[in-house]
Amino acid sequence: MDSLAATTAKLAVRGIGKRYGKLDALLPMDLDVAPGEFLTVLGPSGSGKTTLLQIIAGLTEPTCGRLLIDGRNETHTPPHKRGIGVVFQNYALFPHLTVQENVAFPLQMRRMPGAERDRKVAAALELVGLGGLHQRFPRELSGGQQQRVALARCFVYQPALIIMDEPLGALDRKLRESMQLEIRRLHRDTGATIMFVTHDQEEALALSDRICLLNHGRIEQLGSPEAVYEHPASLFVADFIGLSNVLRGHIQGGVLLTADGPLPLPPGSGGTAGREAALVIRPEHVELDPTDFPALSGTVTETVYAGAEHRLQVTLGSGATLLLRRSAGQGSLPLGAAVRLGWSPSRARLLNP
Ligand SMILES: Nc1ncnc2c1ncn2[C@@H]1O[C@H](COP(=O)(O)OP(=O)(O)OP(=O)(O)O)[C@@H](O)[C@H]1O
Ligand SMILES: [Mg+2]
Repeated sequence: MDSLAATTAKLAVRGIGKRYGKLDALLPMDLDVAPGEFLTVLGPSGSGKTTLLQIIAGLTEPTCGRLLIDGRNETHTPPHKRGIGVVFQNYALFPHLTVQENVAFPLQMRRMPGAERDRKVAAALELVGLGGLHQRFPRELSGGQQQRVALARCFVYQPALIIMDEPLGALDRKLRESMQLEIRRLHRDTGATIMFVTHDQEEALALSDRICLLNHGRIEQLGSPEAVYEHPASLFVADFIGLSNVLRGHIQGGVLLTADGPLPLPPGSGGTAGREAALVIRPEHVELDPTDFPALSGTVTETVYAGAEHRLQVTLGSGATLLLRRSAGQGSLPLGAAVRLGWSPSRARLLNP
């Protein structure tokens, strides 16, 4: 079983864990990354993202477990022999080298002849949109331009496996979004396997084939962006990815009894009677004046205009609040308006509280 997976995965993490004194920075975990996959490691600060990447890069020794790259055990291979391209948040360009020399560096290390090297550097700089800036020094570039040089320096020698730890962390929103598109294009064009760390859930949803969500050194959920968003495995996941409405209660007679009355359970969820549980509903699934489902009554207590949509907060009789979205065309509602709202039970998730 183990050896079969090891032959097909680009990267196979087997029981890798890391302890610092009494702290389990990473609990022993298994993780496979497929060839050509874009896998994002997402999680709150301190959840173990950097620790995991540093172990893969060879910059940190794991306390236990094995790391297989292309089926080979590379757990104790020195970093520069692993064939992994690395981009970290502090992109550490060489300050005394020009852009051209910075990007050429990994090729020089590999003793590539001059003419071929120049060609590859020019292509890499073109790829990240820095064609005209060969002779500048890092201090003469903006943060975003330096970040692109770091990307070019990583992509220039075409590593089959690239790991990036919050490479866009220092950029403003607009630059960040255009760099996200750039990284996606680089991924498509090169076919590299990429492991990307972020604590920005929108970035994770936008970029990834799969998301690995870490919490306290454990994998909370691993799956496609759609799966993680639509079928969160826990309240932590529902809360961390996107906005969620959470209504708590206990199961009785096939419904969830809450302070705001009985709520239908999602079909097939069959919870045990008496058990405490929570229903999670995404704001886009909450409807005003539902005709086909049971309705709750509430009052509009907050409205936010967000360009393409209005976001409404409705407070229920118990004091619980629900968020919902209305497209700009539907208009907003005044504060204090009495509303009835509901959702298709099939859109809700039943989770442990
Ligand atoms: N060298 C170290 N010595 C002791 N504890 C460490 C060391 N490096 C990391 N830790 C601890 O391990 C845990 C995981 O740290 P890690 O850097 O992997 O988190 P992270 O998910 O990358 O967080 P962030 O989003 O803040 O970068 C944290 O509690 C951290 O304090
Ligand atoms: Mg980190």
